[in-house]
Amino acid sequence: MGLAITYLLFCDCNLETDGKICFSDDTLPDGFSVKKGDMVAYLPYAMGRMKALWGNDVEEFRPERWLNENGFFQPASPFIFTTFQAGPRICLGKEFAYRQMKIFSMILLGSYKFKLSDEKKRVNYRSAMTLQIEGGLHLCAFPRLSPGK
Ligand code: HEM
Repeated sequence: MGLAITYLLFCDCNLETDGKICFSDDTLPDGFSVKKGDMVAYLPYAMGRMKALWGNDVEEFRPERWLNENGFFQPASPFIFTTFQAGPRICLGKEFAYRQMKIFSMILLGSYKFKLSDEKKRVNYRSAMTLQIEGGLHLCAFPRLSPGK
């Protein structure tokens, strides 16, 4: 479940861009100089599509990229999987958010099967501070007759 949620946050990170203003002149770890008042932004949505970070197959659905050689889920560095930011100001609610998503998904997917209400309708993003689906994603929910069936 952790792997499925991570893949979802990787492909459809709800944070498109996150900007910071420099309080003073500084040099970033790669040697790039910034001046007081400059704005620096990182883009988790775009970073989740960069071949330089994830390899040429970045656009392929390949959950194995998150598994180690023993087949266990291996989280990527938060500096390249930036959905929750990284460093000292990393999201404090990350583990809580994962737990909520796991509980919510298990209850919903255990009780219902979901189908797109219109399988032919093209799904587009609506660009905003947080990424949204244009017009919402309309689903039909079918109760499962017995758990998992
Ligand atoms: C999928 C869900 C979530 C995502 C993608 C997310 C993402 C983020 C990101 C990107 C930041 C850094 C913002 C910035 O400084 O520019 C952040 C900060 C933070 N998040 Fe979350 N968050 C999520 C859920 C939660 C939840 C459920 C909580 C609380 C229960 C939470 C609490 C916080 C707090 C307190 C900070 C500020 C940390 C600091 O500045 O030291 N987040 N989050």
